[in-house]
Amino acid sequence: MEKPVGRTLESEDGLVRLRLLDIDHDVAVATAWYRDEVVLWGSEGTTELFTPERVARMYQVLSARGEVYIVEVRDRDAFVAVGDAALSPVGVPIVIGESAWRGRGIGRRVLALLIRRARALGYPELMAHQIYADNQASLRLYERAGFKIIGGGEEHGRPFFRLRLDLREAPTPATGSPPALL
Ligand SMILES: CC(C)(COP(=O)(O)OP(=O)(O)OC[C@H]1O[C@@H](n2cnc3c(N)ncnc32)[C@H](O)[C@@H]1OP(=O)(O)O)[C@@H](O)C(=O)NCCC(=O)NCCS
Repeated sequence: MEKPVGRTLESEDGLVRLRLLDIDHDVAVATAWYRDEVVLWGSEGTTELFTPERVARMYQVLSARGEVYIVEVRDRDAFVAVGDAALSPVGVPIVIGESAWRGRGIGRRVLALLIRRARALGYPELMAHQIYADNQASLRLYERAGFKIIGGGEEHGRPFFRLRLDLREAPTPATGSPPALL
């Protein structure tokens, strides 16, 4: 089980935690993530750099729909902010903004924590509402967690998929195994 530590959710192995967003404090560090072309291309579908104001607006919209978290990773003795994630009935977007931390099992832990949180909140299902077909890491992440493609579309000339996880059927994922890739 994830361990709620105050207002955080922590993976079983203690390597990743989700801390509730504090907009005033977090926008400054998050703006750098939304100036990274892999993040912009993968999550927004464009390469237009975000301003701090736009990041704040995005967080306000996500906060109005559900919960927004800063993803933190244990790096030696301290937790460092590496990205963000949100949970709402219409989506569960995850961004690992620090490139050095991508592909190291963090997204998998974050998604597992959010699935558990959604269950605790009584959600019947989760949606990944727009995953670009060429975003292999993202598709793999959601499909490995049990999400199924239920539709799709096209934006900015790029095809995307819509995926759904039925929380009444899906098993509860481990948040810290298989062993750390970190
Ligand atoms: C997509 C993203 C959230 C995945 O998080 P991550 O921590 O990098 O992913 P993980 O290391 O947990 O890996 C998840 C799965 O994707 C696979 N994967 C990771 N990076 C990959 C890559 N570049 N290409 C193909 N597969 C990849 C992993 O092997 C793993 O699959 P497995 O469980 O079968 O081994 C992260 O890469 C990211 O933030 N990308 C930029 C923004 C974005 O596209 N966000 C998603 C849109 S909502």
